[in-house]
Amino acid sequence: MQRDGINKSIWQEVTVPGLSAPRDQEHVEIIVVGGGITGLTAALKLQEAGRRCVIMEANTIGFGTTSGTSAHINTVLDTPYTDIIEQHGLEAARTVVASTRKAISIINKNKDQYEIDCDFTRCSGFMYAENEEEKKELKEIKEALEQVGIPCSEVDEIPVPASFMYAIEFEEQARFHPTKYLAGLAKAYISLGGQIRERTVVQHVKEENDMLVAKTAEGDVFSADFVLYATHTPPGIQLMNFRLAPYRSYIQVWELMRQIDWPEALVYDMQEPFHYFRTVEQGGKSYLLIGGQDHKTAHHDNEKKNFRELEAYVRSLYVVNKKIYEWSSQYYESQDSLPFIGYYPGKKHRRELLSSGYGGNGMIFGTLGGSMMADLVLHGKTDFQDIYSPSRIGPLSAIRNLLVENYDVAKHFVKDRFFLEEIEELAELGRGEGKILNYKGKRIGLFKGEQGELFAIDPVCRHAACIVKWNNTERSWDCPCHGARYAPDGSLLNGPSVAPLKIWQLEKKK
Ligand code: FES
Repeated sequence: MQRDGINKSIWQEVTVPGLSAPRDQEHVEIIVVGGGITGLTAALKLQEAGRRCVIMEANTIGFGTTSGTSAHINTVLDTPYTDIIEQHGLEAARTVVASTRKAISIINKNKDQYEIDCDFTRCSGFMYAENEEEKKELKEIKEALEQVGIPCSEVDEIPVPASFMYAIEFEEQARFHPTKYLAGLAKAYISLGGQIRERTVVQHVKEENDMLVAKTAEGDVFSADFVLYATHTPPGIQLMNFRLAPYRSYIQVWELMRQIDWPEALVYDMQEPFHYFRTVEQGGKSYLLIGGQDHKTAHHDNEKKNFRELEAYVRSLYVVNKKIYEWSSQYYESQDSLPFIGYYPGKKHRRELLSSGYGGNGMIFGTLGGSMMADLVLHGKTDFQDIYSPSRIGPLSAIRNLLVENYDVAKHFVKDRFFLEEIEELAELGRGEGKILNYKGKRIGLFKGEQGELFAIDPVCRHAACIVKWNNTERSWDCPCHGARYAPDGSLLNGPSVAPLKIWQLEKKK
C-alpha cells in the first residue's frame, strides 16, 4: 500500500482493498471524506446500520497517518492527565478515560466480529523519569492517573535498558497492526455494500435545497444527506485551521541483538519531546519500534537530523543488529488538548460532521471519532458529545475573513517562464534534493529527481498562501501553517488544501 511520504513504514506491507464506486452516481446518502481509521470506522458502523455510504479518499485507503502511526492503543494519552485536569477539570478527565476505554472496546469488538487478524495484544504501560525534575512531574502524573481511575503503581524495573530514578506501571493498554486492522474494516465495509472512491478529492461542500452538494477536484458533483470529514482538517479554509496545529513524529524499527530486550509493554520516557517504545512483529520475528523527536510541521531546518538523533538515542540504550525501517508522520494537536468530534461548528444544519485533533493518539481517537460521528448520524446523539464538541470554543470570524482574502490571491495562475540552465546553475541541487530559491524576484521551489529531471513549483500553498518548506526526509513540500503537504512535483498529498501547487514553466534557452 502507499503512504504520504517517500520513507516506507513497517505497516505498508499490507494490501488494503480500495474498491472503486461507479462514477455515474448522483445522490449519495452519506459521504465519508477520508479513508483512514476514522473514516473506515464511521463508514462500517453506518453500513452495519443499513445506511449507504461512499468513502471518498484523496489518494488510496490508509494513505495518511494510519499507515504512519506507531499504533499504540492507550488510555494514558500523550497529554498527561495532570494537564487535562488543569484545563478541563477532574470530571471531564474521567470522561476522557471512559471514552478511551470505549475506543479500545470498539477495536476489540470489530476485531472479533470480523475476525481481523491484526496482532491486537493487551499489555501494560510504563513511564520513567531520569532526573529529579522528571521524577517530580511523574509523581504528579501518577497521582492524576489515580484520580481518574487508571490503575497504576510504582515499580523498580522497567522493560527498557535505561537507568532511571523513578518509574510507574499502568494497566489497560494495548497495541496492534494498524493496516491489518484497516484492511479488515475495509473488507467488512465492502462486504456490507459500502463503496469506496479512491483518488477523489472533495473540494467543496455547500448546502442547497435542504441537501448537501459536494464537488470533487475531478469535476464530479454529488448530492448527499450527510458529509463526514475524517481528514484531520476539513478541506478548504475554515476556522478549524486555527484550532489545530500540525506536528511531525519520527519512528524507527530496529532488529536487536538480544531477544530479552524487546519491550512487551508500551514504554515512555519523560524527555522533551518524549520517546515512545513498543514491540512490533513481522514474519514471525519481533522488532523494537521507537519514536520521538516531535516538532511542528515545517518548523525544523533539517528533518533528516531527527532520524540521526533518534538512532543515536537507540544506540545509547541497545545493542542493535540493524535498522529495518524509518519513517515520519503527521498528526494534529488541538488548542485545548482534546479532539474535536461532532457537528461542524458555525453551520445551521446538522449534516456535516468532523473528527480531528487527536494529538499522538490517533488510533484511539480515530476509532472513537468514527464511531461518534456514526452515532450522531444514526441517532442524533452520542456518548461524550459535549466534551469533544467542535463548537466548544467560540467563532473566529475575523481571522476567517482574512484567510478568505489570502485564498483569493492564491487563485491566480503562474504565468512567468524561467530558463532551465540558469536555474540549474543557481540551485546546485543533488539528486533527490529540493530547495526554495529566489530567481528574477520570484520564489521557486525546485526538486531534482533521481534521473536528474527538474520540477519547479510555486511554493505558495494553495490553502491560504503560506510558503511551503522542503521536507528532506519524506521528500515533500510541507506547509508550516495548517499542515498541507505536496509531492516533489507539486501534486497534493494531504489537506486542508484541495489543489496541487502551481507549476512554473521551465524552458531551455534557444
Ligand atoms: Fe494553510 Fe498551507 S495549509 S496555508
